[in-house]
Amino acid sequence: MPLSRLMVHQFRNIKACDMSLSSGFNFLIGPNGSGKTSVLEAVYMLGHGRSFRSSVTGRVIQNEAPELFVHGKFLNSDQFEVPIGINKQRDGSTEVKIGGQSGQKLAQLAQVMPLQLIHPDGFELLTDGPKQRRAFIDWGVFHTEPQFYDVWMRFRRLNKQRNALLKTATTYRELSFWDKELSVLAELIDHWRGDYITQLTQVAKPICSNFLPEFDITLKYYRGWEKETDYQTLLERSFDRDCALGYTFSGPNKADLRIKVNSTPVEDVLSRGQLKLMVCALRVAQGQHLTSLTGKQCIYLIDDFASELDSARRKRLAVCLKETGAQVFVSSITEGQISDMRGSDSKLFHVEHGAVEQG
Ligand SMILES: Nc1ncnc2c1ncn2[C@@H]1O[C@H](COP(=O)(O)OP(=O)(O)OP(=O)(O)O)[C@@H](O)[C@H]1O
Ligand SMILES: [Mg+2]
Repeated sequence: MPLSRLMVHQFRNIKACDMSLSSGFNFLIGPNGSGKTSVLEAVYMLGHGRSFRSSVTGRVIQNEAPELFVHGKFLNSDQFEVPIGINKQRDGSTEVKIGGQSGQKLAQLAQVMPLQLIHPDGFELLTDGPKQRRAFIDWGVFHTEPQFYDVWMRFRRLNKQRNALLKTATTYRELSFWDKELSVLAELIDHWRGDYITQLTQVAKPICSNFLPEFDITLKYYRGWEKETDYQTLLERSFDRDCALGYTFSGPNKADLRIKVNSTPVEDVLSRGQLKLMVCALRVAQGQHLTSLTGKQCIYLIDDFASELDSARRKRLAVCLKETGAQVFVSSITEGQISDMRGSDSKLFHVEHGAVEQG
């Protein structure tokens, strides 16, 4: 779902900008501190309802300004332009408008604007704890399984209630009624996640071998509790331990994606540039898989494109992104770093002191 236009107001150092976009590559070129990442952050906010750099809205709203706006127009599957917008106030209140209708939920933003962000710290997906990898899996399941969002929300609610009950319960009987529904939801989430990773692996394998031909990469989904046991049995068996901890230890909220190269965890083998390429491969695979299942295109946001990558690897990534046919936003300090990627359908924007001008 490419954006044909992007308008940003009072967002970090960007007072106001209005960009008419390419449905292919959009380059943002400018010196340090000029506002390149802020433009990407604004697009990200349009798809996620929040920033990827700060959870505090007040830090994203321009200093001294009362609120921020990000508006855009995206092309729907019939190639009609649909307006989309988000407004955030200093008190944290948010308004979302899609197709002229206000009061829309953040999940609807995500639904119409699937985004993939690749930024310089993106390799944390591979090196940090499992939280980011669960988010990675759930991005895919959210976009391909229509019931996932509601089921996940119900699971979270019930799990919270269970954790509260664990603090006072004396026998398992007090929990067993709740655990029945919780288990059905947990098994469903596990089933969707497992299926998604099986499918994604097929798409990711050739991209990984294109980017990192010297390594044999494997993805293995871990569901968050032992393989042989159904979830309800596990909950009953773990009652004493969970009571002592005051929360449910095992379950879908402990799921992970274990990624290995030549049977060793990736973070022990790959260099930083290779880790970045691996993350790019996984994210491009998610986008391709989404398109093949639903016909939807995701938008790629690539911040500081050149960091960690040599020119041969940059070229490989650029070719791969071009082949997806998706809309791509790329930030870079110099034009030289993106010269290989420029084509007739691309647009270049110069960013300086928060002003964005088409070049
Ligand atoms: N709330 C805010 N109001 C005004 N300016 C802000 C706010 N938050 C951050 N800034 C400033 O916005 C500028 C833009 O930062 P941004 O990270 O977008 O730059 P960049 O072009 O990506 O730089 P780099 O090449 O170093 O990554 C910075 O100078 C920063 O100090
Ligand atoms: Mg930046």
